[in-house]
Amino acid sequence: MTVAYEGFRKLVLDRSGLVLTADKDYLLKSRLEPLARKDGFLGLDQLLAKVGAEPSGALAQRCIDAMATHESFFFRDTTPFDQLRDTLLPDLIAARAQSRTLRIWSAACSSGQEPYSLAMLLMEEQARMPGWRIDILATDMSLPILERARTGLYSDFEVRRGLSDARLARWFTRQGDQWLLSPQVRSMVRFAPHNLLAGTAGLGRFDLVFCRNVLIYFDREHKRAALGQMGQALEPHGALVLGSAETVVGLDSAFAPVVGLRSVFRPG
Ligand SMILES: C[S@@+](CC[C@H](N)C(=O)[O-])C[C@H]1O[C@@H](n2cnc3c(N)ncnc32)[C@H](O)[C@@H]1O
Repeated sequence: MTVAYEGFRKLVLDRSGLVLTADKDYLLKSRLEPLARKDGFLGLDQLLAKVGAEPSGALAQRCIDAMATHESFFFRDTTPFDQLRDTLLPDLIAARAQSRTLRIWSAACSSGQEPYSLAMLLMEEQARMPGWRIDILATDMSLPILERARTGLYSDFEVRRGLSDARLARWFTRQGDQWLLSPQVRSMVRFAPHNLLAGTAGLGRFDLVFCRNVLIYFDREHKRAALGQMGQALEPHGALVLGSAETVVGLDSAFAPVVGLRSVFRPG
């Protein structure tokens, strides 16, 4: 089994950048055993042998997804959204006054709370940007999580994590035991599959990239690769917003921290 685990750890690292240390073997077992059973494999060895033989296949991707952390919540960490409203947005409104277009990429968006928080905030600030075209692209490597995100449906628990009562009342309606995000906000976000290690040429260029709470799980080499791709996707005056525990410092990337802002970086 250890050999199979070793091969699987390498597959996950090579294909996603996610590091699974040996002390996470219990996670491999608990997350992959149900998948193996569901697909009729006799056990993990058989599943991992099949995945090893077809590392680019859909089954391999499902196994990799199963090992990712998908936790997310609305207006996570607050500060990035306050900084967007108070500093980044005014700068961009001035810089893009001619084109009146704003493009934001939520990279590794999970179940959608991050891009939808961005959309809600921009709707709330709409009076400052009359007639602007706002494009929010939200990507993740996991197809099932993107499907979930597209529904705009959240549980009681999920809407209570990060949403004020005012925002809940303004942007959501009850649907059975869930909450449905307004079509107006949902229509501002486009979801698409994308791996952070892949080229960004097909995505276009962005004024802002939010890539939060994912690089923390990558090793140094893959962090640098992903940062390189995001650097290519940013407009010259664009900014990268990372998670509160993430930084580019010490990675020898093309980014430098923005003085006075937390977890915001610009191409050097
Ligand atoms: C913890 S969630 C972060 C969600 C959101 N950004 C936030 O901060 O709340 C991490 C997401 O990264 C995605 N992910 C992991 N590796 C990836 C990769 N190489 N390319 C694209 N997405 C990846 C996972 O599928 C997962 O949905």
